[in-house]
Parts: sequence; C-alpha cells; structure tokens
Amino acid sequence: MTDAGRAARRAVCISGGTSGIGASLVAAFLGTGDRVYTFGRDPNKVARLVARWPEAASQGALIALVGDVTHEAFRSQLLDEVRSTSDRLDVLVNNAGVILGSGTLEESVEQWRATLEANLIAPFALTQSCAGLLERSTAPVVINVSSACAQHPFATCTSTSYSVSKSGLDMLTQRLALALGPQGIRVNGVAPGVVESEIWGGNQGLMESIAQRRHVLTRQPIDPADIASAVLFLASPQARSVTGATLKVDAGYTIG
Ligand SMILES: NC(=O)c1ccc[n+]([C@@H]2O[C@H](COP(=O)([O-])OP(=O)(O)OC[C@H]3O[C@@H](n4cnc5c(N)ncnc54)[C@H](OP(=O)(O)O)[C@@H]3O)[C@@H](O)[C@H]2O)c1
Repeated sequence: MTDAGRAARRAVCISGGTSGIGASLVAAFLGTGDRVYTFGRDPNKVARLVARWPEAASQGALIALVGDVTHEAFRSQLLDEVRSTSDRLDVLVNNAGVILGSGTLEESVEQWRATLEANLIAPFALTQSCAGLLERSTAPVVINVSSACAQHPFATCTSTSYSVSKSGLDMLTQRLALALGPQGIRVNGVAPGVVESEIWGGNQGLMESIAQRRHVLTRQPIDPADIASAVLFLASPQARSVTGATLKVDAGYTIG
C-alpha cells in the first residue's frame, strides 16, 4: 500500500474487540479498509482474533493487544501504540463491558465497583486519553456501546449495577458530545437489545427465553453484525449531523 493509501485509512480503536459485538466491529471496520486497534484481557482470545485476520495483522491493519481498559498503565500503552503508527485517531468505540452480578440487594459492593469501573469510568478515561489524537482527525467520532437495560429497569439484564452503569454511559455520551462538540468530535451511542455473545456466560437458554418475550418483536437474538452496522453508520459522514444521540438496536424491546 502507498503512503497516501495508508494515510487515507481511518484509525479506529475498539475496546473489547476479541469476542461478541466487538469482534463484529473489528470485522466491519477492517471490511471498510480501516486500521483497527483493539484489545481484551484474555490473551487466548486476542490470539484467536489475530488468527482470524492473519493478513490484516501482518500488514499492520489490525493491531490487537492484551490489556485491561480499567488500568491506566494499559491505556497509556495503547495510546503509545496508536501514536507510533498513526498521527491521529478517527473513531473510538467504547465497547468493552461486563455483567458481574445479578439482582439488586444481592449484588456486592465489589461487583458494583468493578462494573462501574469497566462500563462507565473506563469509557470516560479512554475518551479523555484519546481526545488529543481525535482532535487531529478531520471527522472524529466516539461511539459508546450502551444497552437496552440502561433506560428500562425491567429489561433484559437482571443486574442492577449493569443497568445503572449503562444509564450513566448514556448521560456520559451526551456530556461528552457537549464538551467535545467545539473540537468537531461527535459522540454517540448504540443501545443493543439481546445479542448473542459471551457476556451471557454461555447461558443460551436465558438468552433465548429473553428473546422470545412478546416485546422482542423479531423473537430472536440480535446478530452482533446488526450492532456493527449501526456503529458503522454513526461513524460515517452520513451521520455528520448526529451527535449526543443513542441509537436503539433492540428489535423493539424498549417499546414493548
Ligand atoms: N450481548 C448483549 O446482549 C448486549 C446487550 C446490550 C449491550 N451489550 C454491550 O455490548 C458490549 C460488548 O459485549 P458483548 O455482548 O459482545 O460481550 P462479550 O462477548 O463478553 O465481549 C466483551 C468484550 O470486552 C472485553 N472486555 C471486558 N472487560 C474488559 C476490560 N476490563 N478490559 C479490556 N477488555 C475487556 C472482553 O474480553 P476479555 O474478557 O478477554 O477482556 C470482550 O472482548 C458490552 O459493553 C455490553 O454491555 C451487550
């Protein structure tokens, strides 16, 4: 590839790109010719992702790291990696997230802290770290992966700490859109309904029973690629007037 071709590629950072929705995001952005930086904590999952995209990895189009987004030292390492191969960042997708407990009073304070750390504080901290690099892009975008549970207490997930973390993320999306708008950075979110992924801890039955509920209008889990399509749109010039919005991709779940 020529230097001009390399410069034309968008530089895209996706947290938690090693499984589920994140892996679909990696595929979608690689598919549009972008350079993707991603990471997760489990080295085996990172190795599997690289094995799935050997050419992209060997050509430097896919940079996959092992690391925990809640650790400041890792966020610095990630930023160093981006800076060593790109003069800017065009797209940041805060996708990594966890569900650690279930119930309300049953959840421990430790589970609350860890959930808020991963699902809310880390997206803020990563966006804060990336702001300078994003400002150097001609069309910078941040996209936060929220959830249908954020605004619906009875929805899919039984974990209160998870729902609260995602509600906070929705407000963070709006606050960041306000704060970063003057620098030309758009900030949006997507709020998926029930998506097939590892986050359900392999509980296929639970996922399918949720999907069968009357207000999941398609009566089936959403494909991770459906979320990736929405993110691609929000990251595209076609969405240039969209900021501070969270787009529901929930098969009607939250209108039921
Ligand atoms: N699946 C659904 O039904 C659904 C619905 C609404 C919203 N969402 C949201 O969609 C996002 C992706 O979830 P998913 O369903 O695709 O689940 P998933 O398959 O479990 O993917 C989560 C990804 O995040 C990574 N990750 C988690 N914590 C991390 C940390 N502290 N540091 C770095 N990486 C971390 C995971 O890798 P490691 O574990 O190896 O770190 C994995 O790559 C999450 O924000 C989730 O809340 C999912």
